Amino acid sequence: MERSSSVSLGLVLLGCSVMATMLMGSTSAVLHVVGGRQGWDVPDNVTFYQDWARPRTFGVGDQLIFPYRPGSNNLLAVKKKAYETCDMSDPIKIYYMGPTILNLTAVGDYYYVSSSGRHCEHGQRLHVTVGNAPGSSGVKLPIKLN
Ligand SMILES: *[C@@H]1O[C@H](CO)[C@@H](O)[C@H](O)[C@H]1NC(C)=O
Ligand SMILES: *[C@@H]1O[C@H](CO)[C@@H](O)[C@H](O)[C@H]1NC(C)=O
Repeated sequence: MERSSSVSLGLVLLGCSVMATMLMGSTSAVLHVVGGRQGWDVPDNVTFYQDWARPRTFGVGDQLIFPYRPGSNNLLAVKKKAYETCDMSDPIKIYYMGPTILNLTAVGDYYYVSSSGRHCEHGQRLHVTVGNAPGSSGVKLPIKLN
């Protein structure tokens, strides 16, 4: 009897600390794992990353993680026109040491593509709009990346 009540007290305390963590987490930034289980790679269809981004909101202070292996893929931050046309000639920034974690530090529209092969033409491109409201639908920080 005593034993089981101390176990249930333990569970209650555990529940409280989980709740507290979740409450604290609700005010902190969101880590968005781009593509979910697909990661950052050539998708099955050209709208995959638009579909991934649509239900989410991206806020200042959030992070985007692009999961890919160095050598098998890359990541270019580009301008809107380049995103639309898969023009790799004038990127804003090139990342190739995946996984790449980007901090969203300012409101605005951001465009990312892969310049591997014809990945961009096949839908490996992402547009996110970063707003002032808190981000949602990602994993709450802090998170441990192994
Ligand atoms: C694209 O593929 C994803 C995942 O495979 C799926 O959830 C989505 O519905 C597909 N979209 C279209 C337009 O086929
Ligand atoms: C991004 O933000 C994290 C957490 O605030 C910080 O540790 C990291 O240094 C930042 N990365 C860059 C590239 O600024």
